Amino acid sequence: MLLLDGLKLLSNIALAAPWRLSRRTFKVAIVGAGGGIGQPLSLLLRSGPGIKELALHDLVEMKGIATDLSHVSKSGMVTSFSGENMLEPAVSCADLVVVAAGMPRLPGMQRDQLMAANGQVAVKVATAVSVACPEALLAFITNPVNMIVPAAAEVLKVNGIYDPCRLFGITTLDVVRSEKFIGDFMKISPDNVKIPVIGGHAGITILPLFSQCQPEFHGDKAVIKEMTHRIQEAGTEVVKAKAGKGSATLSMAFAGARFVDSLLRGLKGEKGIVECAYVASELTDAPFFASPLELGKDGIERFLPLPTMSSTEEEAVAKLIPVVQENAKEGIDFARKCL
Ligand code: LMR
Repeated sequence: MLLLDGLKLLSNIALAAPWRLSRRTFKVAIVGAGGGIGQPLSLLLRSGPGIKELALHDLVEMKGIATDLSHVSKSGMVTSFSGENMLEPAVSCADLVVVAAGMPRLPGMQRDQLMAANGQVAVKVATAVSVACPEALLAFITNPVNMIVPAAAEVLKVNGIYDPCRLFGITTLDVVRSEKFIGDFMKISPDNVKIPVIGGHAGITILPLFSQCQPEFHGDKAVIKEMTHRIQEAGTEVVKAKAGKGSATLSMAFAGARFVDSLLRGLKGEKGIVECAYVASELTDAPFFASPLELGKDGIERFLPLPTMSSTEEEAVAKLIPVVQENAKEGIDFARKCL
């Protein structure tokens, strides 16, 4: 009797409110999956749970990489799409589109200088998403993130499907680097370090909030200054070390996979998932700003308020806001010229 009642209750819930039943697996499309970031990112995503289809897109032939990844003993399938005309089929009905396509920096270059080469990636992907998966979450790794995200937002807006809660610039690598450098300095595991990194993803716009570090950061002001500078210039450190062979790929893939995992956990309905990302924001005078966000079934569930900062951090925010404002304007202008 009890069992029957239970079964009846379950079927009533399913019939009366099927939308209440959380989905557990998703289609994730990676644009630029054949590149230096795309390949390790795809491997890390294959190793994790929750993906029923991993759709790999690139301009080059993707069959080999897709076949290779499809032998990893995890559930879910891997599909491959090559060439510009296969972008729409690749992202079709995706729940999440992650974009790693584009040119990397060379030594001596600033991220901004990549807009001429990579701006089109934002426009093309946002156009494909508008047609083929307008409800998907869209997350960009492609630099310059500070301009690419506003450019994509403009395309989505013009196409009438813009939802600011579904568009992200991935800044997780700044958090990952902060955790590692702080963990090493404090002689603790980076796994035990928590620190928000706000602003944007280039130079002084990357602002780790040492005042909010958990556990409390023990270095003095000089150490904080030095470490902040190292975090802000960590991308350049990799570009220099690679000496003309590109920028961070493996650590970026690690960070990207962590952010994707959080987005998927949010989509599944898990509560309390917080990540920093560069998104449309009303927290400051900048139209796009990176800050801690609670993620959920529709992307951004809630903006965490900016914490009370040290006076040095407040000064740094005041300095970075005009930079991200200008970056956003350049991104939007770029998109408008393309449309
Ligand atoms: C990074 O932070 O490593 C990436 O944004 C790549 C770059 O150009 O620095």
